Amino acid sequence: MKVLVTGGLGFIGSETVIALYKNGHEPVIVDNLSNSKIEVLDNIEKVSGKRPTFYKVDCCDYEGFKKVFEKEGKMDAVIHFAGLKAVGESTKKPVEYYTNNLLSSLVLVRLMKEFGMKNIIFSSSATVYGVPERVPLVETDPVGHATNPYGETKIMIERILQDAAKADSSLNVCLLRYFNPIGADPSGLLGEDPNGIPNNIMPYISQVAAGKLKTLHVFGNDYPTPDGTGVRDYIHVVDLAEGHVAALKKLATNPGVVIYNLGTGKGTSVFELIAAFEKATGIKIPYVIDPRRPGDVAENYANADKAFEELGWKAKLNVEDACRDSYRFQTTTASK
Ligand code: NAD
Ligand code: UD1
Repeated sequence: MKVLVTGGLGFIGSETVIALYKNGHEPVIVDNLSNSKIEVLDNIEKVSGKRPTFYKVDCCDYEGFKKVFEKEGKMDAVIHFAGLKAVGESTKKPVEYYTNNLLSSLVLVRLMKEFGMKNIIFSSSATVYGVPERVPLVETDPVGHATNPYGETKIMIERILQDAAKADSSLNVCLLRYFNPIGADPSGLLGEDPNGIPNNIMPYISQVAAGKLKTLHVFGNDYPTPDGTGVRDYIHVVDLAEGHVAALKKLATNPGVVIYNLGTGKGTSVFELIAAFEKATGIKIPYVIDPRRPGDVAENYANADKAFEELGWKAKLNVEDACRDSYRFQTTTASK
């Protein structure tokens, strides 16, 4: 399939481009480089041996984005990664988050309609479940209120896409709810390179290991979990990327609206993650215990059975693989 990939130079988008090539698809990337670098395109070429067509276009810019559709002609599907994603920042800049994430999606849906494109995969998040009443989370669990504007944009875009599909039965929508994506391409050339001090734990640990940061701060050791630290479902970005390829296959069967959790189904605590990192890299991670971070929940992990049953997809890599790959990316390619 010829696949439009918005946000295709970002962390998950770039790895998905690799997976698309591996599976014989032809990606076309649109990205405004607001949270990525153009060098990622060279690295995609180094890893895949192919250089995707790339447009530096903002998806909120209807006229600019329309030119991509005109130039590319028939495209079979779109994977919509483009969006702002920093939870903390979204509470400080809510209007920017709502504008960018909603407008880019609305412009995209409008163009899909104008150009007769029928298939969309949307990057949603486990954040749409809000504070979970129970784990593991299943796709039928209630979607209510997220704890921050970023999460609200995911809930709203899910609704917009579902309503669009209700009004047009030929539209196929796949909502993929990611749990905690970590890891990097095994080549060390593609990965997550956040600006400033990382909010998420994996880039933080990698930067401690690489000597860029001194000490990991563990946010709480008094949760009602086996070792007192927070439990999450960490999924390797290579597995996550494959999930998109599986979802494309599903869309080709004209399923209407489908929703899948993409997680491993297994919870890992902060202490277990530190231990896995130390085992994978041989580097000791110094840490201190801090108070709980506001907004964090004790446990959050997926029931990933539906994706296995309906897409034939399941995560194959483990947290140690992800730690090894994150560290490799941190020491070879990430900003020093
Ligand atoms: P990322 O920031 O690395 O990638 C997003 C890309 O979109 C960036 O390259 C950025 O430049 C681009 N972009 C942003 N706004 C744009 C616009 N208006 N027009 C064109 N390009 C634009 O993020 P990621 O981690 O790869 O996440 C990809 C998607 O998955 C996002 O929608 C994110 O919300 C979602 N998601 C991510 C996580 C995670 O932990 N990384 C978890 C759940 C969901
Ligand atoms: C966060 C977002 C979520 C987003 C996800 C992307 C919040 C409330 N949620 O999830 O919407 O989809 O990132 O991966 O921000 N931790 C530490 N020390 C650190 C950083 C984190 O101990 O320096 C702990 C946290 O308390 C948590 C776990 O590590 O138990 C994972 O945290 P993080 O990587 O930030 O992800 P989430 O908070 O699960």
